[in-house]
Formats: sequence, structure tokens, C-alpha cells
Amino acid sequence: MDSFEKNILITGGAGFIGSHLVRHFVRKYPSYRIINLDALTYAGNLSNLRDIEECPNYVFVKGDICDGELVSGLFRTYRIDAVIHLAAESHVDRSVLDPFTFARTNVMGTLNLLHCARTCWGSLKEGFDGKLFYHISTDEVYGDLPITRDTAPYGESFFTEETAYRPHSPYSASKASSDHFVRAFHDTYGMPVTITNCSNNYGPFQHPEKLIPLFINNIVNRRPLPVYGRGENVRDWLYVEDHVRAIDLIFHARRSGATFNIGGFNERRNIDVIRTLISTVDRILGRAEGEDECLVTFVGDRPGHDLRYAIDSSLLTGELGWKCQVSFEQGIEKTVRWYLGHTRWLEEVTSGEYMKYYDTMYSGRK
Ligand code: NAD
Ligand code: TYD
Repeated sequence: MDSFEKNILITGGAGFIGSHLVRHFVRKYPSYRIINLDALTYAGNLSNLRDIEECPNYVFVKGDICDGELVSGLFRTYRIDAVIHLAAESHVDRSVLDPFTFARTNVMGTLNLLHCARTCWGSLKEGFDGKLFYHISTDEVYGDLPITRDTAPYGESFFTEETAYRPHSPYSASKASSDHFVRAFHDTYGMPVTITNCSNNYGPFQHPEKLIPLFINNIVNRRPLPVYGRGENVRDWLYVEDHVRAIDLIFHARRSGATFNIGGFNERRNIDVIRTLISTVDRILGRAEGEDECLVTFVGDRPGHDLRYAIDSSLLTGELGWKCQVSFEQGIEKTVRWYLGHTRWLEEVTSGEYMKYYDTMYSGRK
């Protein structure tokens, strides 16, 4: 018999958000066994989890969420009670270059997990009782919002849980499709599911293909900062640990069939984020104020670039009492200091395959 109170399969646990979530659950809930299934693509890195790899309630399995035999085997071997599904291809620019990989992992991979969960749980005496499939998704499924004002909030409208899906990029289209499959398994087969749609995350261990770590790294190394378009697009930023605390709360609230938006009402124009990064890095490194402003380089816009994301998370704050705890200023200070102290991690993830991608993305982008 298992000595664990719960067996939770977390997919994508070697990635950015997944590694914070796995660490949080392994440490906070020693009575839960956490099984981390991750294919270790360019975005997955086991060094994100060195500090917990020896914990008795942690198991790592290298494998693909699209592999039906492997996933069914994990359900049987570990008697999985709940899935928290994060594994995905997550970068919009890559989805523009290669949409098929996004459809395979994000759509077919999610469908495979749902199918294995249904088959395994359906064969048990208790059926779906006490089970949960929790799908981690993005606000990008809602499309984008207009900018109508010069200061935050940059418009009157926000994404709510009722907003219709209007994805624009291949990434958001694949995530929207996976959300629909998760709801379909709830409505068709009665599977207990929860979906959350979160705004842009930032913090330690984020791959430096994304805006904040890419620009910190480039400022430190005095490389150009490729700002798409005029830098006026708006994103709603959330420190990754605030996201993890929300996932913990929602997971334990067990609201089958529910959707929650997660965001901290933290809208920023890209150009303002970039100025904050420059001044923070320069201050910490003792460089003259504004010295690195000259690195800002306006380049051609991202195709289909969403103008503004802004999340209304009042359902989550009102019903479950979640609050964003880390302000943007505190979060940026922690994040910059973390990247400055982890140059080896950065070297590791920016070598090899990633640099080939970086060259494809930015060479010739004027
Ligand atoms: P990430 O790219 O850092 O990590 C993704 C992880 O999934 C990696 O460890 C990778 O190895 C793994 N993976 C990829 N394909 C796989 C496959 N076929 N089988 C098994 N593992 C595979 O992503 P992230 O930024 O941590 O995002 C995690 C989840 O959260 C994603 O589902 C994403 O859509 C969602 N999300 C991200 C953000 C954000 O700002 N980063 C915001 C909202 C929602
Ligand atoms: P990103 O971190 O890729 O997240 P997302 O596209 O999921 O919002 O990008 C955040 C914003 O920064 C987005 O508006 C695109 C912009 N951006 C740049 O201007 N230059 C860059 O090199 C990158 C990676 C992003």
C-alpha cells in the first residue's frame, strides 16, 4: 500500500513555473508524492530542482506527455489521484516559426493525458471520486484588448472568465484548443477538471528567450535589446511565486468544472519594463545611471503581436481570498539579483540549441 496521502502527477515540472510549483509542493506537503513528468526539451532543466531531488516524496520521470503507454503506466504504478498539467511549448516567437510542434505537445499531449486519466480513473471502483485534472493555461487564449489610455490600467476592459476565446498566435491557439478539450472531458465524461488562465509570469529560472530574462542577460553583457515595434504593447506581470500560491489554493479548493483567471493588476508597457530593467541592472552593477539606455534597439514587430493583456482576477480574490504578495518593483529586484548570481545557469541554458534559435530569431530582424 502507498504510504502517501496523495499521488500528484505534475507535468512540465523541470520548466520555469513547473519547477517552482514542484519545489513548493514537495516541501510544503511531505505527505504528497510528487511525480514530475518532463521531456527535458530545450526549456526543461533538472538543475532547476537540484535542491529537492533527494526528497523522499519526489520522483522524476523523463518522458513525453504524448506517449500513451508511458503515461498510462505512470497512472497505474503511482496510483495518480490528481494531475497538474503544465508541460507545453510556451514561447510565442517559436510558435510562429514552428506551429506543428505546438499542436503536437499542447493539443495532442493534453488530449493524451486526459485520455489516460479517463481510462485509468474510469477503471477504478471509486471512479472519478477524489480525482482532479488541473490544467494550467494562459490569458493569451482571450486574444488582446485595446489601449485607450496613457497610464495603467491602459484601457477600461479586462479579461474575465466570461471573455470569449480569440487566440491570435499559434501558441495561444494551441492553448485554447487544449482548454476546450479539458472542458469537453468534464462535460462529456464527467471528469473533475479545473482550468486557470494566468497573465505573464517572471522570476528565477525563466528561460532567457522571454522578455525579462533575455533583456537582463543582454544588459549585463551590453548586447542590443531588441524591442518589437515601438515597445508600446502592454503585458500584465505576475511574480512566479504568486502564481504558485494561487495554484496551491485552487488545487485544494476542488471546484470541479471551474475556471479562474490569475493576475495581479500589474499592467506595464514593454518600454517601461525595459527602462526599469536597465536602471535596476545598472544600479546593482554600479554603472552610471542611464548608461545602458543606448542598448535599446527598435526592431521589426512580431507578426500578430497582441496589443494589451489585462486580467480581472476578482473571482479568485473574492471567492478564494488570493492576493498578489510581491509588487512589480520587489519582483524585478529579486529577479535581477537572481540572474546576476546565477551566471552558470544562464551559460548552461544559453549554449547549444538555444543559441541556434537565437541566431535565427534575431539575425536579419531590423
Ligand atoms: P517552460 O517552457 O519554461 O516549461 C515547459 C516545460 O514543459 C519544460 O520543462 C519542457 O521540458 C516540458 N515539456 C515540453 N514539451 C513536453 C512534452 N512533450 N512532454 C513532457 N514535457 C514537455 O514553460 P512555463 O513558462 O513554465 O509555462 C508552464 C505552463 O504555464 C505552460 O502550460 C504555459 O502555457 C503556462 N503559462 C505560462 C505563463 C508564462 O508567463 N510563462 C503564463 C501563463 C500560463
Ligand atoms: P514574451 O516574454 O515573449 O511573452 P508573451 O509574448 O507571451 O507576452 O514577450 C513579452 C512582450 O515583450 C511581448 O509584447 C513581446 C515583447 N518582446 C520584445 O519586444 N522583444 C523580445 O526580444 C521579446 C522576447 C519579447
